[in-house]
Amino acid sequence: MSPTFTVRHATPEDESGVSELLLASYPGLMRTAYDQAVLEPALPLITRANPALLSAGTYYLAVNDDGFAVGCGGWSRERPGSSEVQPEVAHIRHFATRPEWLGRGIGRALYRRCEEDARSSGARRFECQASLNAQGFYAALGFRPVGRIDVRIGPGPMLPSVLMQRAI
Ligand SMILES: CC(C)(COP(=O)(O)OP(=O)(O)OC[C@H]1O[C@@H](n2cnc3c(N)ncnc32)[C@H](O)[C@@H]1OP(=O)(O)O)[C@@H](O)C(=O)NCCC(=O)NCCS
Repeated sequence: MSPTFTVRHATPEDESGVSELLLASYPGLMRTAYDQAVLEPALPLITRANPALLSAGTYYLAVNDDGFAVGCGGWSRERPGSSEVQPEVAHIRHFATRPEWLGRGIGRALYRRCEEDARSSGARRFECQASLNAQGFYAALGFRPVGRIDVRIGPGPMLPSVLMQRAI
């Protein structure tokens, strides 16, 4: 029988667990799509759990039967990196699955929870700044690419990404 997981809200107490999960997931999986020179300066920043997301009530963890975090992801009303809020638009934030748990529906389960809650809050469209390695995942969830964007991550080079959208 394959191991199971459940989805729960994340809280500020999950900060170290989420950072550890991001660090287990992002470096290896993003290396498939980015040059070292672009990725290395970004990694220390993007593998750090975002306290604002953890306390927002709109970020979730997939945990295994022992309560160990195997996936994370959520959404916000604010556009990433700004306080701008657009009516009816919500933003997908900081999705990751542990490499040994890939392909078991964790990302999709986290997305479903985001969609249910964002829709209940009045959002009608999701936007996502998809990393190049994750574009296929978001396409499988029904997102369509709108265009290439460069995402600023601290003082290093911009991270080439794809802006994706879907109605919810
Ligand atoms: C993207 C990520 C979260 C997907 O997690 P996952 O738990 O393996 O996803 P799921 O098993 O729920 O897959 C859902 C669907 O997406 C598809 N999918 C997943 N990863 C994919 C990929 N890299 N390319 C194409 N399709 C992909 C699956 O085949 C599945 O399709 P199906 O349901 O139609 O069979 C994971 O690969 C990851 O952590 N990547 C590194 C971090 C990252 O880049 N995050 C996004 C930042 S924007």
